[in-house]
Amino acid sequence: MKLHIAEMLRAQSEEHLSFHTPGHKHAGADITELSYSDNLYAPHGVIAAAEADISDILGANRSFILTDGSTSGIFSMLAALKSRSVSALAYPQYSHPSVYHACELLGIRSVLIPQETEYGILRQPSARAVEAALRQADALLLTSPDYYGFFAPLAEARAICDGQGKPFVVDGAHGSHLHFSPEYAGKFADMWVDGVHKSLPALTQGAVVSATDGWVSPLSSAVRRFRTTSPSYPIMASVEYAVKYPRNFAIERAAEDFKRGHGCLGNDDWTKILVPFGAAGEAAAGALEKEGLYPEFYDGNYILFYLSPCTKESDLLRLGEALDALPRGEVASDAPTGAVPVYREGP
Ligand SMILES: Cc1ncc(COP(=O)(O)O)c(C=O)c1O
Repeated sequence: MKLHIAEMLRAQSEEHLSFHTPGHKHAGADITELSYSDNLYAPHGVIAAAEADISDILGANRSFILTDGSTSGIFSMLAALKSRSVSALAYPQYSHPSVYHACELLGIRSVLIPQETEYGILRQPSARAVEAALRQADALLLTSPDYYGFFAPLAEARAICDGQGKPFVVDGAHGSHLHFSPEYAGKFADMWVDGVHKSLPALTQGAVVSATDGWVSPLSSAVRRFRTTSPSYPIMASVEYAVKYPRNFAIERAAEDFKRGHGCLGNDDWTKILVPFGAAGEAAAGALEKEGLYPEFYDGNYILFYLSPCTKESDLLRLGEALDALPRGEVASDAPTGAVPVYREGP
């Protein structure tokens, strides 16, 4: 598939003399918005073509490339909700700080959805908890998958929102690789954000926010307020590349086999491998780093290894051998430990 932004960057003239920003004055990939490079604020050329392909792939009516992370997508979705008279948002207590911050800044009241702890992990809220919380709010936000690789009850949430006539948005910061799957946020939500840099091969901060038909106009106004006016072309090109990256069935299967073969906690998402270590995790993470193996986090109970379609099967084999040599402790299953911030109160 054509890579509109990357091909434009490659086709630039070697004679290019920069009398424009950025100040390093090197022409190349890191250019600014010029006559031929389009404009993220009002796209009509290569960026418009890239965004059109992205929205087709993601099943959206319109998708917006973000170079400021999923954070700016979450701010934009909530501002779009606010512009349509949403004054209270229901969301799980473990939501990302950007959700709390956007509510605070936009004057949206938070209705926190209670969650249960299981095996030392704060789990997705039940459909029943979602339904009860949404009665006190005008819109719903769920995170799917979460940092630990569990899907939210998306189909039930869609039905609950339809039943109550309220909009549904999804924080998919950890789920952009799922656009091939039935559990993809875009199959259920009115607006959703994809953290393309986390689970697909985009540069850090590369993300996409998308809308279905009725939400295109308010989201389009909102992204203009929360995106930089100096977007990075390397990041934009990488977002287009990452969304067009082919599905890697072999690594998906290898990840699920790995989970079964190495005593991992069962979860829903192949890109997140959760290895229970209990208190022995700190020493284990240190030992792994000495071998050059760097996990995503150790939360006091689990070490989480984060994969993507670019993970090599040979690297998984190496990880398996290293893990099998390390002693494991008991998981403290009653209280959740630290990888996700837990806010007890909303603003
Ligand atoms: C669940 C969740 N939502 C949103 C974000 C924000 O994403 P970004 O860092 O791309 O702004 C994160 C970041 O870690 C996250 O974990």
